[in-house]
Amino acid sequence: MSYAAEYQRSIEFPEAFWKDKARALSWFTFPETILSKDDNGIDRWFADGQMNTAYMAIDYHVENGHGEQIAVIFDSPVSGQKSTLTYQQLLDEVAKFAGVLKSKGVEKGDRIVIYMPMIPQAVIAMLATARLGAIHSVVFGGFAPHELAVRIEDAQPKALVTASCGIEVDKRIPYKPLVDEAIALSAHKPDCCIVFQRPEVKAELSGSDADWATEMQTAQPAQCTPVNGSDPLYILYTSGTTGKPKGVVRDNGGHAVALKYSMNAIYNMQPGEVFWAASDVGWVVGHSYIVYGPLLHGCTTVVYEGKPVRTPDAGAFWRMTEEYGIKALFAAPTAFRAIRKEDPEANLLGQYDISSLKTIFMAGERLDPPTYLWTVDKTGKPVVDHWWQTETGWAICANPTGLETLETKPGSSTVPVPGFNVKVLDHVGEPLPAGEQGAIAIKLPMPPGCLPTIWGDCERFKQSYLEAYPNYYTSGDGGYKDDEGYIFIMGRTDDVINVAGHRLSTGEMEEVVAAHPMIAECSVIGVHDSLKGQVPVGLVLLKDGATIDEETLQKELVEMMRKEIGPIACFQRAVIVPRLPKTRSGKILRKLLRQIASNHLLSVPSTIDDPASVAEIQAIMQKQGLVKETSEE
Ligand code: COA
Ligand code: AMP
Repeated sequence: MSYAAEYQRSIEFPEAFWKDKARALSWFTFPETILSKDDNGIDRWFADGQMNTAYMAIDYHVENGHGEQIAVIFDSPVSGQKSTLTYQQLLDEVAKFAGVLKSKGVEKGDRIVIYMPMIPQAVIAMLATARLGAIHSVVFGGFAPHELAVRIEDAQPKALVTASCGIEVDKRIPYKPLVDEAIALSAHKPDCCIVFQRPEVKAELSGSDADWATEMQTAQPAQCTPVNGSDPLYILYTSGTTGKPKGVVRDNGGHAVALKYSMNAIYNMQPGEVFWAASDVGWVVGHSYIVYGPLLHGCTTVVYEGKPVRTPDAGAFWRMTEEYGIKALFAAPTAFRAIRKEDPEANLLGQYDISSLKTIFMAGERLDPPTYLWTVDKTGKPVVDHWWQTETGWAICANPTGLETLETKPGSSTVPVPGFNVKVLDHVGEPLPAGEQGAIAIKLPMPPGCLPTIWGDCERFKQSYLEAYPNYYTSGDGGYKDDEGYIFIMGRTDDVINVAGHRLSTGEMEEVVAAHPMIAECSVIGVHDSLKGQVPVGLVLLKDGATIDEETLQKELVEMMRKEIGPIACFQRAVIVPRLPKTRSGKILRKLLRQIASNHLLSVPSTIDDPASVAEIQAIMQKQGLVKETSEE
């Protein structure tokens, strides 16, 4: 079927369309109710279907004769380890670890926090949780104890699963002390902490801590617990505009249907082929396309503990492609910028046979045309930019290569994926004509897979996403549609920034900066960075009488940021300014600062307190190299 016909049907007859797609999965009881409203008035998919996501992703394939197929490839240049798990081995490990969790009292609906590096045990822990109908919340290893504590406090997990260490390029990061500190900081204490000991670092266990390997020796394999399609599978915290991260909830049914559909419609994958998302299980890309999508589709997935460069060189992606016969590679544009920086002529590519690779997919941040053109030129492969968010769990816009490969336009994430009715709206919610930039919104109902709520706070969900424009989900991204319906995402319209494909909240960083005793006021903005896309910079105003030089202040703030948010914040610069532009009511004009930084200052709001402050801050930012050069587009 052509893309246009498929898309049209998904928008005109969403229930019939998704009922049809749901048949591709093995339900315990097929849903009778396809689309319904929950008690909060939110659209829900497949609410009365009976299922288990881990069953669909593992047991089903084993029962259908694919037990000997490789399910997971583990490749870790940082530890020198490589291994594989067949579907049968994965099933054995997952069922046993589910037994371990069960022996710790974990039941359907309980939460499990997983704080692990990129090792197969992270995937096993996630699937084991799903097997019991419990809810996992994976926290990225680059977050500091305070961030982990915030998530523990919100999710209230019964158990926490971790490893003795993570391994970055040239350092080992002991995780247990970080976990202990987080639990100490949190008002909620998990009943137990299960630790996978890695040979590189031995964690000290005490109290209710349990050793993964010891527990597995005596564990009784647990069966799959049936859940309703609308029961939660996981909570994944993501940065919002305030200091408190949002616990994006994913349901079981819609998620499985959407991911299964996407594996072919978007990625053109067939069961048995090798799919590699070079991300981390701590991010949504890792949840959807390292763990659930490829396994639901019966593919082989790759768990890679390394970087695109420096582990050991910029040929890592090509080496992996040849070694494992990867058909589709999915990574963030920043990874390709890093490869390009180290190997501009892609000389290392010449050492490998990448003929298995059919398409390169990129997401996580805008794919800038120079990176797009370089990747196409050097690899000779089609490159697909696709736009999505933690909230949606899968791509909103893409080139649907499994349905029809459409013409690519650099700078565009191509067209809306079937199920997503994407509109560009003006400030009062009216659709804008082609070419005009506005807020990107999705007409309700959203397709299966998208968040139905924020954990424990449906009001926040409604306020954050549904109230700005009635009948629409607001994405927080701005952009435009061209006259052929291609979507161009130009960036966030709020205080969320993207640093090396990682989503961070400047509001959260401002809370950290503002806690410095010498700082009266501050604004943290994202400024252009040629490698990481954006990096945060603090513009700070000192308290009267404060005496501290910029260098010392910057050093102290960098330390505070690493301690409170983690190294992943990549906060390295603070600039002391004499004042910040404000409205007459005293609100800092953050949008104006963002516009100056991106070199797109459109107009100065009439509510500004002192118009001269704009020219002043513009001059300072220019002098400090914080304004993007237009040639960098
Ligand atoms: N655990 C602990 N620390 C981590 C970590 C983890 N899982 N991941 C990153 N960090 C640390 C790094 O060691 C670094 O610390 P440092 O400041 O002490 O050196 C810091 O966080 C910043 O890391 P990063 O942004 O990854 O920078 P980098 O210079 O190490 O690597 C890139 C740069 C571009 C190679 C890397 O950011 C990358 O591969 N990005 C792709 C991201 C991605 O896949 N996103 C998912 C969306 S698809
Ligand atoms: P995350 O929730 O971490 O996946 O980040 C989602 C945000 O990343 C989106 O709201 C966009 O701002 C940005 N983003 C992701 N993919 C793209 C893309 N292909 N083009 C432009 N921006 C993107």
